[in-house]
Amino acid sequence: MDVMGRIERALYAAVSRADVEACPPRLAAAMRHAVFPRGARIRPRLCLAVAAACGEDEPEVTDAAAASIELLHCASLVHDDLPCFDDADTRRGRPTVHRAFGEPLAVLAGDALIVLAFQTLAYGAAVTPKRLAPLMLTIAGSVGVPCGIVAGQAWECEASVDLAQYQREKTGALFAAATVAGAASVGAEAEPWRPLGARLGEAFQVADDILDATANPDAVGKPVGRDLALDRPSAVRELGLDGAILRLESLAAAAVDAVPACPGATALRSHILTETMRLLPKELARHAA
Ligand code: IPE
Ligand code: IPE
Ligand code: MG
Ligand code: MG
Repeated sequence: MDVMGRIERALYAAVSRADVEACPPRLAAAMRHAVFPRGARIRPRLCLAVAAACGEDEPEVTDAAAASIELLHCASLVHDDLPCFDDADTRRGRPTVHRAFGEPLAVLAGDALIVLAFQTLAYGAAVTPKRLAPLMLTIAGSVGVPCGIVAGQAWECEASVDLAQYQREKTGALFAAATVAGAASVGAEAEPWRPLGARLGEAFQVADDILDATANPDAVGKPVGRDLALDRPSAVRELGLDGAILRLESLAAAAVDAVPACPGATALRSHILTETMRLLPKELARHAA
């Protein structure tokens, strides 16, 4: 099965555990809406790529880590789009969860997906209990406080914000969890994989800021121009468009350099290069040259 098929199957199995007769049907529908159809699934793909590079031995554990990370990402989008955060009407080219189901169910669907992510991890990693605790701690740390998504989003409520810290926490942390968990899911030494994920995640958020300032909403499937309208810290606002593109290029190069020695390092470097080159449309990638 190809990587995308593998991820969709793992997510489907996870959501099916919650989507049973006993579950309030509109809540189950709101959760499905948040997870399917898919976005780019970049985080679980990264997790699987690192596991493969380290020598995967327990696919069920790696699948659980990857699915758990994507469920947390989907939950973070549901909450990020709420009126009290970015107030977005569209996501992945469709109405956001609160636009389709109302705010109470969007809050609850996000909450339920967060809990489901950890249940998914516990079920999937039960075959190797020794790997479960490090995976749980890595993934939980990346979404909580003091330095995960919750912390990153909370900087929006502070009077002064360091852009790099904000981006590392709201986006980089979950990418770092994807690389660290990929290694931890196969029992490899995991911490050396953190810088790769952190740099990739920061690069990804800089690219998202560039798209927010330049893209067509139909092309990205979500509103644009929000960073300026909501007075959000953004790489384009702080560095200008050319400066943001240069920052993205340097983070992407640093990510490729951060791949630790492992059996599949060469293939992984080329996977990272392909992923980072896709972050911006070609005309923009050449912009700073
Ligand atoms: C969007 O993430 C939120 C950011 C961290 C910039 P993605 O661009 O990975 O969203 P999907 O999952 O592909 O829709
Ligand atoms: C999203 O950041 C980060 C999280 C969901 C934690 P943004 O608010 O910049 O991302 P988009 O543009 O809505 O996808
Ligand atoms: Mg936001
Ligand atoms: Mg947003």
